[in-house]
Amino acid sequence: MKSDNSSDIFFSKFSLKGNTALITGATGLLGPKHAQALCMSGANIVLTDLNLDTLNNLKAKLEKENYSGQIYTYVMDVTKEEDILKISKNLKADNINIDILLNNAAINPTTSSIQDNIRTTRLENFEQLRWDQEVAVGLTGTFLCCKVFGSDMASRKKGVILNISSDLSVIAPNQNLYKQKDLPENMQAVKPITYSVIKTGLIGLTRYISSYWADKGVRANALSPGGVYNNQDKEFVCRLNDLIPLGRMANPDEYISAVQFLCSDASAYMNGQNIVIDGGRSVI
Ligand SMILES: NC(=O)c1ccc[n+]([C@@H]2O[C@H](COP(=O)([O-])OP(=O)(O)OC[C@H]3O[C@@H](n4cnc5c(N)ncnc54)[C@H](O)[C@@H]3O)[C@@H](O)[C@H]2O)c1
Repeated sequence: MKSDNSSDIFFSKFSLKGNTALITGATGLLGPKHAQALCMSGANIVLTDLNLDTLNNLKAKLEKENYSGQIYTYVMDVTKEEDILKISKNLKADNINIDILLNNAAINPTTSSIQDNIRTTRLENFEQLRWDQEVAVGLTGTFLCCKVFGSDMASRKKGVILNISSDLSVIAPNQNLYKQKDLPENMQAVKPITYSVIKTGLIGLTRYISSYWADKGVRANALSPGGVYNNQDKEFVCRLNDLIPLGRMANPDEYISAVQFLCSDASAYMNGQNIVIDGGRSVI
């Protein structure tokens, strides 16, 4: 029989008590789940996104769950370095240091937004303005947050960065998923090129940071979720399910344990990796 002590040691590795985690793009579909994951582990959290009301609604919801940590909200556009610096300064003025940075913000093309934007998503017609806007959020935004908060972590010799990528960091999109009947090829909507480029770029960024600040006690990893079920079009869901060995999309809360692992000392020796959680889609 193991003593109770061993389970204490086991759980203490997952504990984030006394740590503060900042989440970008916190109020979308997965952001609140990441927030819940970190709150459950005892962290204080800083929720950031573009809209204060939505942030405060999320804060109120989490506070009802009576977690032990503090919850702060800030409007922060990840494409604006001056916004990020200002928030970092405000947090410091309140003696709040960011120990964990969870880069989650993205302009996420949904199935319906892809299908509403027939032709504009196709590579032949893809506008540079859209490229710039999407890269600015998903890739440049992550770089800027790493620059500001990661530099501070390095100076304090302590920190964890978790970049939210996607299964499309390791596989190409299957454009058949978005095909609509009775439309010619040049009218078919596709998953935008930006998504693959951004999500794959995040893996390079993660690897870069993993060696850059390793001697400063800062490690970085990426989490690559597969598609999350969110009442998408039935035909899309059926087609996607057929590509996934587990036969279904993810539930939004199926990344909670991975976030807790990757942000805590439970993963202390993991650095520069991309953890793909996709029901097996990328291995067949
Ligand atoms: N939902 C999925 O099926 C899925 C699958 C794999 C990976 N992902 C990734 O997980 C992350 C979260 O996905 P989601 O489904 O919650 O997306 P979402 O679109 O619901 O949420 C993204 C959030 O980012 C915010 N955002 C957009 N531009 C911003 C900016 N300039 N500054 C700050 N915040 C900004 C949005 O306001 C939104 O709240 C994304 O990186 C996404 O690519 C999602």
